[in-house]
Amino acid sequence: MHISVIGCGYLGAVHATCMAELGHDVVGIDVDAGKVDLLNSGKAPFHEPGFDELLERQVNGGRLRFSTDYADARGAQVHFIAVGTPQSEEGYAADMTYVDAAVADLIPHLLEHPDGPTLVVGKSTVPVGTAARLAAQVGGSPAHLVWNPEFLREGFAVQDTLTPDRIIYGLPGDPDAAEASSAVLDAVYASMLAAGIPRLTADYATAELVKVAANSFLATKISFINAMAELCEATGADVTVLAEAIGHDDRIGPKFLRAGVGFGGGCLPKDIRAFMARAGELGVDQALTFLREVDTINTRRRTAAVELAHRLLGGTFSGKRVAVLGAAFKPDSDDMRNSPALDIANAIAGQGARVIITDPAAGPKLAKSRPDMEVAADAFEAARDADLVLLLTEWRQFRDLDPAELREVVASPQIIDGRNVLDPAAWRAAGWTYHGVGRP
Ligand code: UDX
Repeated sequence: MHISVIGCGYLGAVHATCMAELGHDVVGIDVDAGKVDLLNSGKAPFHEPGFDELLERQVNGGRLRFSTDYADARGAQVHFIAVGTPQSEEGYAADMTYVDAAVADLIPHLLEHPDGPTLVVGKSTVPVGTAARLAAQVGGSPAHLVWNPEFLREGFAVQDTLTPDRIIYGLPGDPDAAEASSAVLDAVYASMLAAGIPRLTADYATAELVKVAANSFLATKISFINAMAELCEATGADVTVLAEAIGHDDRIGPKFLRAGVGFGGGCLPKDIRAFMARAGELGVDQALTFLREVDTINTRRRTAAVELAHRLLGGTFSGKRVAVLGAAFKPDSDDMRNSPALDIANAIAGQGARVIITDPAAGPKLAKSRPDMEVAADAFEAARDADLVLLLTEWRQFRDLDPAELREVVASPQIIDGRNVLDPAAWRAAGWTYHGVGRP
């Protein structure tokens, strides 16, 4: 099938490449000429395991290309919308400028297709009600609108796109349009559906809500365990054992119960805020007041890490050298959007400490974008003569650090393990003062 993907950021670039991998003929459209050139040369504009090889193979194989010109999307049967919906400058609501512009720019290029209806398929995370609004706009063209949210995690983007836990179609209200649209998307995802991936159909609003509900639940799970960590800290209990114990109950499950410096990234923080803002507009803000608390608990973990660092340094940051291991919001990613690690590093530097930060993937990007930051090549360089080390992103390189070797280079062997990934006994045995999150 001939497919276009509008927006070649994280979501769009991976989606376009995976659609080519499924055997489709794909064009990715993006307004950023630099990004389009890079993608056309088979190079990923971000760090994502397994993505580079796939992109290069599909671009060289001729099934995938990228363009800045919407006219190149002409003739495709399916047009995916995968542009960003960041938090708006003024408040918590999602900024819909890019989605609206993408749809408006695409409409003149929507043509009748001989093999069935042409589809405009929304993938971006949007406030509930967006699909209905866009459907009215698309209505004058030969296309139907479908909402098909994406659940990919950074670091697992290819795997999550090709073998998702489920596929959801938010379909038009008209039964004939719904059936015909559904059949076209079934053809797009044929090999995935044949492999047994569950597929659910719904109305627009449900499909839109599935995405934000899932992210809200995940954020709530993390803040729940971080709240338990606060209780553990007040009582001398161990949150890692507590999480393992409650996780054995399969109604709760073991995943997303890792206490630490909390969630960040381009999705969870902004999605729960946009969801609260939308609930307010719909007059049901009280239904989501708990998300305000989820957000507050999350932010409090960052403040708590800064306060602990301050205490361990004897009540002052000035004149102190602090090593920060991690800048990305999670390992296997160079994404620093709303990163707890970077936020904590900034706060400590802002209060007068000399902060040396290192990150295997985000380091070079950080050095370029933040000339005010001292970026080291690795953990040993960052920790040289440090009065305190903070591990804030759980890269394998940091989890595997030898405490005895690292102890050789620091001025004072004290570490805050903001992700609870080190073995406290091993680090203490090597002479370190170890502080985890919610662990005695
Ligand atoms: C998330 C959702 O998982 C994904 O389904 C959605 O499509 C986009 O948002 P992502 O932002 O890539 O994906 O990262 P995720 O793995 O969910 O982690 C989010 C944040 O939560 C990270 O900062 C991570 O460190 C933190 N986290 C995760 C915890 O603090 N504890 C946990 O137990 C799990």
